[in-house]
Amino acid sequence: MTVTPDRESPEQLRERVAGLLAASRARSTALTEAVDEADLVAQHSPLMSPLVWDLAHIGSQEELWLVRDVGGREPLRPEIDGLYDAFQHSRASRVSLPLLTPAEARGYVAEVRDKALDALHRSPLRGRRLEEGGFAFGMIVQHEQQHDETMLATHQLRAGAPVLHAPPPPPGRALPVAEVLVPGGAFEQGTSTEPWALDNERPAHTVHVPAFWIDTAPVTNAAYAAFVDAGGYDDPRWWSEAGWAHRTAAGLVAPQFWERDGAGWHRRRFGVTAPLVPDEPVVHVCFHEAAAYARWAGRRLPTEAEWEKAARFDPATGRTRRYPWGDADPTPEHANLGQRHLQPAPVGAYPAGASPLGVHQLVGDVWEWCDSGFEPYPGFAMFPYPEYSEVFFGGDYRILRGGSFGTDPAALRGTFRNWDHPVRRQIFSGFRCARDAVMGDVA
Ligand code: AVJ
Ligand code: FE
Repeated sequence: MTVTPDRESPEQLRERVAGLLAASRARSTALTEAVDEADLVAQHSPLMSPLVWDLAHIGSQEELWLVRDVGGREPLRPEIDGLYDAFQHSRASRVSLPLLTPAEARGYVAEVRDKALDALHRSPLRGRRLEEGGFAFGMIVQHEQQHDETMLATHQLRAGAPVLHAPPPPPGRALPVAEVLVPGGAFEQGTSTEPWALDNERPAHTVHVPAFWIDTAPVTNAAYAAFVDAGGYDDPRWWSEAGWAHRTAAGLVAPQFWERDGAGWHRRRFGVTAPLVPDEPVVHVCFHEAAAYARWAGRRLPTEAEWEKAARFDPATGRTRRYPWGDADPTPEHANLGQRHLQPAPVGAYPAGASPLGVHQLVGDVWEWCDSGFEPYPGFAMFPYPEYSEVFFGGDYRILRGGSFGTDPAALRGTFRNWDHPVRRQIFSGFRCARDAVMGDVA
């Protein structure tokens, strides 16, 4: 949600940035005040950092870019830099570092924010590429929101009584068709114009995507339960070699947080156990589970280019839109984003967010696994630091697109690319299916 409104003055940009910084901090504060001191410093899973690490790391990145670089100030606490460098310590090991206490971390992020706001008022917000259009500030807003989603995933892994609350999402409704044909041909992927797009989303470039069919909705709990109940986890035919090896070593039998209850399934979500809702998108599946389901169903996962074409291509004009619904920034009517609800919404809950071809809920609800690795677009240029994207290219990752109920609109665009290891499922990950078109297929 980062388009610069037409003729926005520097003062208006400053005010917008200050609002986004305040909103991300309100979310970090809520996520860290929801639990006691012991829960803030605890390791809730070896896959996650202690919440107090995320909080101070948010401050550390903000200090690095907004206080030291843009603001030109000396380090506030140079001795803690290494503790909050994600590349020096694995998530599993952070709990045993001499971290700032919760009170110290809160004091640190407040002091950093004070000086970051000072930098915001001094920066011309133009000239230098890092400051042009407020890029460094937008990058730091996105970084805080990304860690807020990570902290939300830590909350999901935390044992104990519920501490987070939100109203339920809007009701679903039946969609007219289960899949649509996306016409083949040229499509402009990525962006060269979104001011706060990160380096891996750039530049815009033309890709030729052959015609394909894509589901109008993410795969639901009911559909996924049919795969589980049909013995899908016990049949190597549906799994890739790596997927079967992982399913066996990890003892996978169902999505994470599912519990069998007699003939049916329950799921645990933020401390509440309840029956699975049939028409909600399945969440907490890894790439291998998604790919196995698709094969069982006679389908496949979309590639990243297919996903983005389904989400952004307008067949009436041949133009690429910013979002499925058009060029407007997301509102609560378009998509389930921003932790307004603590769950994916049922299929059909966001008719205003559908694409021109009638594909629903591409944005929000659940991150969608794509059958693509994380690779640079042609013409990629690292900016402003290699550790955001570049060092991950070509690694053992799969792409996830579209954001989840836990992704803030400030940290999502139609072009936004996420990635993770194909075995990860503590994230808010689901998927939808696709299939090749064959000659003679018509929409
Ligand atoms: C882009 C979501 C994979 O959370 O690991 C946060 C974002 N980079 N701090 C992550 C990120 C540095 C990153 N993802
Ligand atoms: Fe980070």
